[in-house]
Amino acid sequence: MLANGSPHPEGNGMRMAGWLLDDLAAGEARVLELYDAGFAPCRGCRLCGGMDGCIAKDGADRAVRDALASDCLVFVSPVHFSSLSSPLIAFISRMQMVWRERGGELGCGPAPRGCGVLLVSGGSDYPGMFEPARKVAAAAFRTMGREFLGMACAAGTDAVPIPHNRDVRADVRTLAERVKACC
Ligand SMILES: Cc1cc2nc3c(=O)[nH]c(=O)nc-3n(C[C@H](O)[C@H](O)[C@H](O)COP(=O)(O)O)c2cc1C
Repeated sequence: MLANGSPHPEGNGMRMAGWLLDDLAAGEARVLELYDAGFAPCRGCRLCGGMDGCIAKDGADRAVRDALASDCLVFVSPVHFSSLSSPLIAFISRMQMVWRERGGELGCGPAPRGCGVLLVSGGSDYPGMFEPARKVAAAAFRTMGREFLGMACAAGTDAVPIPHNRDVRADVRTLAERVKACC
């Protein structure tokens, strides 16, 4: 399952995702367009632990369950103000229901299964520019009981269009090999 946190369905991130799907020969990936989904961020009401699903009836809890059931969960995001995009962070915040179901750090979470990868791009190129995104994605995959296999990062997309970025193409290929070994 691919959660696209870019407003551009055919933008830089989704081009990287296309490479990943090609390398995996995964024609059937489900794509969740988060800018269209319009999921609200978690309100921290603390009711989800005792209920079947979230009180916000916008479909995010179902999407979280679909993500839990997927073999490989792929986050696609542009760097927005040094982090993941707001719709992706909103979706990740709704994974709080999984956190609460498992009783926080102390409980037993979903049995670890499947993997997660992050595909991220940024217009500029500066040291550590992907670190905040990596940390947020790692926390989300941990909550979802997934092994975080790594990320492919395209810096400087303002100057170097993704299709010409051979280093990133190679990184996506390496990620695909890790996914194949995991799933
Ligand atoms: C609101 C906004 C904030 C952005 N913030 C950053 C940033 O902090 N650092 C950066 O390198 N690029 C930033 N960018 C540029 C995007 O990350 C870049 O164009 C990215 O490759 C777009 O990917 P997409 O085509 O998948 O949406 C920003 C773009 C927007 C629209």
